Amino acid sequence: MATDDIKQIIDATDIVALVSSYNIKLDKQGKNYKGLCPFHHEDTPSFLVSPEKKLAHCFGCGGGGDPIKFIMQIENIDFQDAIIKLAEFNGIEYKSNYHKKENPNKKYYDIVKMAINFYRANYEKTEYGLEARDYLLKRGLTDEVIKDFNIGLAPKQRDSLYEVLRDSNFLELDMVDSGLINNENGYHDFFIGRIMFPIYDEQGNPIGFSARIFDNKDKNQPKYINSKESMIYHKSEVLFNFQNAKGEIMKMKRVILHEGQMDVIASYKSGMKEAICTMGTALSITQARILYKYTNNAIICYDGDKAGIKASLKAIKIFKQVGFNVRLVLLPDGMDPDEYVLKYGIDKYKEYFESNLIDEIEYQYLVTIMNKDFSDNIVFKEVCNQIFNLLFAERSESIKESYLKRLAKDTNTSYDAIRFDYNSFIGNQNVNVDFIDDYEPNEIVPETIKEVWNSIAELRLFIYAKGSKATAIYIDQTLGDDLNGFKPKTANLWTKLVYEYYMNFDKFDEGLFVKMLSAEEACYYTEMMEAVSKSNIEPYNQEDIQNCISKIKLLSCDAKNEELKRKISSNNTSKEKQFEYANDVFQNKKKKLQMSKKK
Ligand code: UTP
Ligand code: MN
Repeated sequence: MATDDIKQIIDATDIVALVSSYNIKLDKQGKNYKGLCPFHHEDTPSFLVSPEKKLAHCFGCGGGGDPIKFIMQIENIDFQDAIIKLAEFNGIEYKSNYHKKENPNKKYYDIVKMAINFYRANYEKTEYGLEARDYLLKRGLTDEVIKDFNIGLAPKQRDSLYEVLRDSNFLELDMVDSGLINNENGYHDFFIGRIMFPIYDEQGNPIGFSARIFDNKDKNQPKYINSKESMIYHKSEVLFNFQNAKGEIMKMKRVILHEGQMDVIASYKSGMKEAICTMGTALSITQARILYKYTNNAIICYDGDKAGIKASLKAIKIFKQVGFNVRLVLLPDGMDPDEYVLKYGIDKYKEYFESNLIDEIEYQYLVTIMNKDFSDNIVFKEVCNQIFNLLFAERSESIKESYLKRLAKDTNTSYDAIRFDYNSFIGNQNVNVDFIDDYEPNEIVPETIKEVWNSIAELRLFIYAKGSKATAIYIDQTLGDDLNGFKPKTANLWTKLVYEYYMNFDKFDEGLFVKMLSAEEACYYTEMMEAVSKSNIEPYNQEDIQNCISKIKLLSCDAKNEELKRKISSNNTSKEKQFEYANDVFQNKKKKLQMSKKK
């Protein structure tokens, strides 16, 4: 391929339009545009788009670059595919004569694709298929929906798919690696006599199935069997219906997370096509990160029963960690969306869904006080404790107050009494104000951290620096070497150690990092990370990086001045030196003043 062609394609790009097409909101700032980075979580925009230079780059994490690099990263595709995408975006005819190295997984996709077609045909053309259809229609599916989801049927014979694949000359080794064929006492099918829901990856490649029994009365059989972990099927990344929902998620600016595929289908039928689910696993950070590329609004709508509530609370944590706004819908009577639709119909469901969306604090409040007997003192105390914990992380004082008032009302107590209990709850948290000269309101700081850090700012910077090489370099350079007044408790500043680590490696690896530490530092490390995991410090916050750096510089000035003042008043210091030191103090104060102004 000619480099000229590529240059022409890049030159034709309206980079602002390209970036905006991925649901990234940009604000104009002079010649450039700024927005929240799609490659990492942040609250303050550090993602810069320059129409002039045709760059889309993040100064926080180093993600992005020219239009092709940007597409490669955001779509998770290779260089060749990114050029094709970009040409398409620009409406340029582009024929790649580059012989693309075939994706090493293509043979597995081909096998799954053949299986999908085989299961479809078996569903459409057999008696057994009619039985399956009866079942699906009874559950409220239509022929159209069945087709939209490519739902099929695995025959009852143990080796029907195997024979089809063998006749198409697939290698037995590849069949087994694809997860669809077992090799135990000969080759036979993994899925037997089940309704088959195909599953695709983020790029739309077919990677596996979730399979439901429908005619088997054997209670020992699991209701669903999913593809096992294989070369292409990775449980913690899989999202059912994502290939269909992707565009809709961007359009609707929200994603709906359900517990099972029948619920996804219920939402789909009701016109909410931005619904997805994980495959019999709890939501993982990886799945949340994939979704975050397309939207930052998540709606969790799990089963309304105890297990569903418990899973919702877990999913809230994961979503929030990645940076989502989280809302939830709690369905009545422990129902799941599929049951609700079957009972009340799609219109009622959609109406209920849209008018019962609540934010995550409200949800957590509701499920905590739900069905509790507050006349039991133990229950009362436990519920209060849980609500206090929930409010402790909340920054808005007015929101706190309104929930404390509600708690008083709901538990039949006075607001004053609840407020008193809440205040003593806060007093009992391990926040030592003497030490934390620079803590954020609501920051939970475990005791152990104090042994290693003089300042919370240093701790936060350490956490941010670990996040990426670009951040580590930025922090190290901005801190500079002139911090003599700031004495870390260990021999080195921890951000310095992270910086040195990144000079040798590109990715942060705890094991490698610990190897680099001195014996004393290594001793601290594990204990310290354990403590960090109990704190509520965010993994990344661009604005806070600046604050923390200023804070450390200020502390450094203060400490230096204390030291100088001590020297001035010492009997051993000559008049001349005293003048010199006094001048230093003056200069330091000036510097400090300038720094606080800059803030
Ligand atoms: P549930 O068991 O809660 O779904 O599983 P359900 O609503 O009762 O199922 P239906 O509506 O009768 O079909 C929710 C999801 O958990 C996974 C499946 O993905 C399912 O959709 N699951 C469930 C499994 O992976 N294995 C199982 O044995 C059961
Ligand atoms: Mn169900």
